[in-house]
Amino acid sequence: MSAPTGPAAVRASAAIIVAAVLDEGRSLDDLLAVESDEGSARGLKRSLCYGTLRWHVRLAAVLNALATRSPDQLAPRLRALLEIGLFQLVSGETAAHAAVAETVNAAKVLGFEQAAGFVNAILRRFQREQADILHAIDRDVALRTAHPRWFVDALRKDRGEAALAALDANNAHPPLWVRVNSMRGDVAWAKGELEAAGFTVTPHPLARDALQVAPPADVRSLPGFMDGRVSVQDAAAQLAIELLDPQEGDRILDACAAPGGKTCHVLERTNGNAEVTALDVSEPRLLRIRENLERLGLQARMVAADVENVRGWWDGRPYDRVLLDVPCSATGVIRRHPDIKVLRRARDIPTLARKQSNLLAAAWEVVKPGGRLLYTSCSVLAAENERVVAAFLARTPGARDLTPELTHGWPPRPAGAGPGYQVLPGETGMDGFYYACLGKPL
Ligand SMILES: C[S@@+](CC[C@H](N)C(=O)[O-])C[C@H]1O[C@@H](n2cnc3c(N)ncnc32)[C@H](O)[C@@H]1O
Repeated sequence: MSAPTGPAAVRASAAIIVAAVLDEGRSLDDLLAVESDEGSARGLKRSLCYGTLRWHVRLAAVLNALATRSPDQLAPRLRALLEIGLFQLVSGETAAHAAVAETVNAAKVLGFEQAAGFVNAILRRFQREQADILHAIDRDVALRTAHPRWFVDALRKDRGEAALAALDANNAHPPLWVRVNSMRGDVAWAKGELEAAGFTVTPHPLARDALQVAPPADVRSLPGFMDGRVSVQDAAAQLAIELLDPQEGDRILDACAAPGGKTCHVLERTNGNAEVTALDVSEPRLLRIRENLERLGLQARMVAADVENVRGWWDGRPYDRVLLDVPCSATGVIRRHPDIKVLRRARDIPTLARKQSNLLAAAWEVVKPGGRLLYTSCSVLAAENERVVAAFLARTPGARDLTPELTHGWPPRPAGAGPGYQVLPGETGMDGFYYACLGKPL
């Protein structure tokens, strides 16, 4: 049975989802994955959920300025619905009178009949006082850009002036990037096919297989997706291959492989002629690798194991190349997953950094002398990136940071930035991503 599709019902359903993220810490992707709407109801619900969570920190400040009692005392779904109504008024994507009326109706759908007048009064007061309220709130960067304060402070400390552009980029709608399967065609040919289908297509200056496709569309509608000629992958993730530089005949370990985007890229680049092991600790996530390999007609050895338990999974034969795409705060992909702003806590970062450091030490053991390990993360925080790698280099005799020589010709990084190469969100249209290519002595 499909879900009710009227505008109030869609808002009510979006409020239930937003409240589940805000109050239960659930993932937006997981919640949306089980929704059955189609067409415009699906589009509206997703845009309300993404937009409200993207702007939650700012909307919560607005609500605080408007409400006569603390918003924390409101029922979670009512509070989420108010933020949805405010989001619509601020974004201007819907006529204001419709946004107010349908939010009031949605309160009734959710069983808050008695709060209908309160919802109406809050939204109408915001309409009258919007300019003054936003002017006062937006003096604070964390509120203006709708990020948690701990994150804004950490990013400014780590990235200086560049932090502001990154915070703004996190609130932009993310572009669609595809990876052209170099085994089945070249970038020029794929560009022509996509343009013939009506898309505007832009290559990336450094990621050789990457094309930005506008406007973003359902991936299944892209020419070449169903038969594996193109895959969806941000250009920042694709850039990893340029540093790993896998060769045909190499023995390669993808140590944190699921869902397999980079495993598949490695195989495409080596014409399927590399001996690739795709390892991941999560068995259910290994299934995602299998699906991706099957769609592309590629093969890898799949292993369910904890990288840190090297004796448990390694056969003793070293690898020419190791890719270690660590679990991280995902603060580089906030524009794609705005719920990260809500779900990630300051206290998570030291725990993640310890894990990343242990994974790096374990993965290093299996690199061949003269081989290389590429450490990557989709974090923008130095604690998970430069500091993990700098500590590793300091305690590991002979380990060398090859990144400066390999990124020669890439846009320069700030002086004294530390080992590796950090991309911040929005740079050349990319997600935030970090790379450190480490060489093992012969
Ligand atoms: C950032 S994701 C990898 C994304 C993947 N490289 C890609 O491009 O599609 C990190 C992965 O690390 C896995 N992981 C976390 N801890 C691990 C461990 N101790 N050993 C192996 N895999 C681990 C997670 O299950 C998750 O799939």
